[in-house]
Amino acid sequence: MTIARLLACSAVSLVLAAPALATDPDTVDLAAAEKRAVETVARMKPEEKTIITHGIMPLPGGGPKVDIPADAIIGAGYVQGIERLGVPALRETDASLGVTWVMGARNDWATALPSATSQAASWNPALIRRGGAMIGAEARAKGFNVLLAGGVNLARDPRNGRTFEYFSEDPLLSGILAGAAIQGVQSNHIISTIKHFALNGQETGRKYVDVKIASGAAHESDLLAFQIGIEQGQPGSVMCAYNRVHGAQACDSDWMLNKVLKQEWGYKGFVMSDWGAVPSIQAAIHGLDHQSGEQLDPGVFFGSQLADKAAADTAWATRLNDMNRRILTAIYAAGLDKNPAQPGGTIDWDAHALVAEDVAKQGIVLLKNEDGALPLAMTAKSIAVIGGYADGGVLSGAGSSQVMGKGGPAVKLPVAGSGIWAGFISESYHRSSPMAAIKAHAPNAIVLYRQGQYIKDAAELAARSEVAVVFATQWMTEGLDVPDLSLPRGQDSLIEAVAAANPNTIVVLETGGPVKMPWLGKVKAVVEAWYPGARGGQAIASVLFGETNPSGHLPLTFPAEESQLPRPRLDGSDWVEPDFGGNPKNGKDKLHADYDIEGSDVGYRWYARSGTKPLFPFGYGLSYTTFTHGTPVITGTAASVAVTNTGRRAGADVVQLYLTGRAGEPKRRLVGFGRVELAPGASGTVTMTVDPRLLADWKDGRWSIPAGDYTFAVGSDAERLSTPVAIKMNARSWKD
Ligand code: BGC
Repeated sequence: MTIARLLACSAVSLVLAAPALATDPDTVDLAAAEKRAVETVARMKPEEKTIITHGIMPLPGGGPKVDIPADAIIGAGYVQGIERLGVPALRETDASLGVTWVMGARNDWATALPSATSQAASWNPALIRRGGAMIGAEARAKGFNVLLAGGVNLARDPRNGRTFEYFSEDPLLSGILAGAAIQGVQSNHIISTIKHFALNGQETGRKYVDVKIASGAAHESDLLAFQIGIEQGQPGSVMCAYNRVHGAQACDSDWMLNKVLKQEWGYKGFVMSDWGAVPSIQAAIHGLDHQSGEQLDPGVFFGSQLADKAAADTAWATRLNDMNRRILTAIYAAGLDKNPAQPGGTIDWDAHALVAEDVAKQGIVLLKNEDGALPLAMTAKSIAVIGGYADGGVLSGAGSSQVMGKGGPAVKLPVAGSGIWAGFISESYHRSSPMAAIKAHAPNAIVLYRQGQYIKDAAELAARSEVAVVFATQWMTEGLDVPDLSLPRGQDSLIEAVAAANPNTIVVLETGGPVKMPWLGKVKAVVEAWYPGARGGQAIASVLFGETNPSGHLPLTFPAEESQLPRPRLDGSDWVEPDFGGNPKNGKDKLHADYDIEGSDVGYRWYARSGTKPLFPFGYGLSYTTFTHGTPVITGTAASVAVTNTGRRAGADVVQLYLTGRAGEPKRRLVGFGRVELAPGASGTVTMTVDPRLLADWKDGRWSIPAGDYTFAVGSDAERLSTPVAIKMNARSWKD
């Protein structure tokens, strides 16, 4: 049942609708697209039916050899078209943060959005949609009609090497933002994926780690993020993941693909495999519609093998028709045939850089600001800039999502490792120098730099300067998890030494996700800038000098210690060798990830349940101004919260509404949020609608809400909550 229908027939006194982010009905007309698809399938000759069901990775070198057709573009994927039927070829590129670099193999550049974690820290769907529209426009201008974007896996473990490609630890925030990003991408008449379906929570043993989680817990967490993302964004394709779930590879999981995605949710688009994730032809029967990057799999299953099966067996023939119908539905819904993407399109680089800069600015989170150390005075006489290659650029995350701006990396450090990804991966910094931007904001200051290899030397520079800004980095990549949450390469010691030398020490973090901060009590201010993208240096300086008032809020919890995590030790990390291919080594392929430990209580919900205090909670973020919140007003299906800017600067606040109790049971669930910009002294109201699934439990195919008092509170973060208001609700249960 849809939410709208639930609302229409609900008897409960409080049922709130999904957060307002309407999909654009002009760009997605699924029913019409599906009708056309059915007609095209009816006109297909048998030998045409396996043309669009499989594709190659058109990449010279680096993996198994493949013939690259003349009309393919170097990138992640190429799928032949069917000219007779006007079906266009699919030209696929990665990923969620922009058109990827493929290590310069295509010899062009793109605008790098900040990491998805940074994007999520804005809590701003409209901004994320702009970002999606920007990267989609670049994909289109380069001739691609499929962008492998929409990473929405929940951050169950902050050590996951792909944390930076995903939004958050919360299903509502992640789903809404992924939906917004996908809407933006698809507004360019290209297809976006949503990925990696599902429960793809770690890179350690990524192709064989077997996830264990109860169905209800999965529906209330990771699957809900996908469900909301699909409803909001209507992506043409779902990319299934590498990992196993309940013993089956995700791309071969009848439960996830057929039962959940297609039957329960009624998904109309197609499921494409991740690259090298298809174990056998049987995956087609289990719900996989398209084999991607086929040379990376143990065989080309969805070509002649599939045609032979369909010729011999009507069940396979019916399934093959369904696969074609789904792929064509996505093609027609996005208008790929009527609005063909051609290489050589124009890109407004300056406008795109500004989008990346806006996202970075709104994503920066001020974590600490003692004695008003920030913003820095433009009149500062001497500033020591230390570490993080801040004289050159800003850090980016690596792997298939690596984007590179014009001129290539400012700094590129090679990384050792084995597996097919090893040659692809490096620690790269975008050409946006924080040091140059700091100089531009403080033209009269002496700004000097030390990378910090020699700690004493860096501390001496700090001691001679009015203020010291230390840039600390945590590099992350697809293919590898970080072993712990420390800042690598002795950066903690560097910060300690600089802070001891200069009482005005500011730390700027460029990290993929949470890190520990043993020096927190000794520095004046901490700014989390994540991987801030193409104009990260400018965005950081703008926040440091107060031109931008920070408004980011953490989209994931920063633990004090790894021992606070549901799995203090990352499963398998004690014996799995770093391998960018993620294949089983030494026959050790029996790795399990037990997600039943936390179940649907991911992130802040786990901390609330276990009563542990993290370093910084989910939702946390300071501003150069102050805000007060009114009592939440909950009337029927809507909630609203008044906000006042009580400080002296204009700024933006993110109102967070939490469910704190249900029928006498303590709960902690984000049920609504909204960002509001306010002039000093001004008040505004954030209105929210709440998805009833967020109040419910999922069991045996149904959502259910017990009768009783439901309490809601406004949070500055997931821990600092207002006095709750109570609403009575009747029991209710419904099906998706
Ligand atoms: C990644 C996907 C990506 C694909 C194609 C895989 O390694 O997991 O996210 O889209 O490669 O490059």
